[in-house]
Amino acid sequence: MTKECPSPAPGCPVLVTGGAGFIGSHVVDALLALGHRVVVVDDLSTGDLRRVPAEVRFVRGDVRDPGLDALLVEERIDTVFHLAAQVDVRKSVENPVLDAEVNVLGTIRVALAASKAGVAQVVFSSSGGAIYGDPVGERADEDHPLNPCSAYGVAKLAGEKYLAALAPDGGHLLTVLRYANVYGPRQDGRGEAGVVGIFMNRLLSGQDAVIHGDGLQTRDFVHVADVVAANQASFRRRVGGTMNVGTGIETSVRELYGLVAAACHAERPPRFGPGKPGEQRRSVLDVGRARERLGLAELVPLEGGIHATAEWFRLHRAGQGLGG
Ligand SMILES: NC(=O)c1ccc[n+]([C@@H]2O[C@H](COP(=O)([O-])OP(=O)(O)OC[C@H]3O[C@@H](n4cnc5c(N)ncnc54)[C@H](O)[C@@H]3O)[C@@H](O)[C@H]2O)c1
Repeated sequence: MTKECPSPAPGCPVLVTGGAGFIGSHVVDALLALGHRVVVVDDLSTGDLRRVPAEVRFVRGDVRDPGLDALLVEERIDTVFHLAAQVDVRKSVENPVLDAEVNVLGTIRVALAASKAGVAQVVFSSSGGAIYGDPVGERADEDHPLNPCSAYGVAKLAGEKYLAALAPDGGHLLTVLRYANVYGPRQDGRGEAGVVGIFMNRLLSGQDAVIHGDGLQTRDFVHVADVVAANQASFRRRVGGTMNVGTGIETSVRELYGLVAAACHAERPPRFGPGKPGEQRRSVLDVGRARERLGLAELVPLEGGIHATAEWFRLHRAGQGLGG
């Protein structure tokens, strides 16, 4: 999978699928700041056009649309950042067919379009929080057994495998980034780390927040700025391969609640409700490989990241989905 690939030319065009979403819109901002021409394909199913800057070429469309091939050729796309996805784990449990249509068939379509257009690199947003299952041992590294316990996790894993199988020999470089639970500004509470956004929305509007299960389940919460840095470094360094993107720090949902409540100046205790199907007990990633290959050393500390995110929620709560 790892092959020689020259560095991207200054200003070269890139495609971000799902660029109107939480993480995708931050990736778009970073690529624009580097001076690249950015094309976004997004069907706005969960994304918001207000997150997409005016200088972007925005194409409202579905990644499953075969017209993607022509767009990549027309725009001479150098790198495809594939983030468009059905990201709601619970929805994937309720409707695994829809989840697979977007996350498996959509990813196959992106892989085929990238091969046909002869792009240099595909960077895929996968999920370290959903494909390993409960870690055997302390942390899950990239060689950990793959035991997804939700339809979403199975589909993201299938996406990785299709992208690898459909990357032509001597064709594009494939980089798979397996994110932990991402949080930060612009999050809307539907994604895997939706718990941060859900707690903040409720506590800032004076409502109780519910912890599902006993709250001792753990997650690896990574700030979106660190995820963007991983995408940028993957783009520029062209190392390829599969890398976890997280913090390596395990935080229980109870601890997280404490941090969010403090950042929101809320004194109310959490309410406890029944656990959710398809939920892992533990999730924490070994991030040594990304540190070494992508040079990601300084990560946003959780407490500071939660405080900054709470500030954003305070400002934007009234108009969810806004940029900034
Ligand atoms: N948020 C997390 O904690 C997390 C963790 C691991 C991996 N990921 C992955 O990161 C990526 C981005 O997630 P996010 O949290 O920003 O979610 P998001 O819902 O904010 O973004 C997904 C975007 O994809 C778009 N989209 C959905 N289906 C589409 C389709 N068929 N065609 C075109 N566009 C479509 C949506 O409108 C949205 O803008 C996803 O691939 C997700 O699986 C997220």
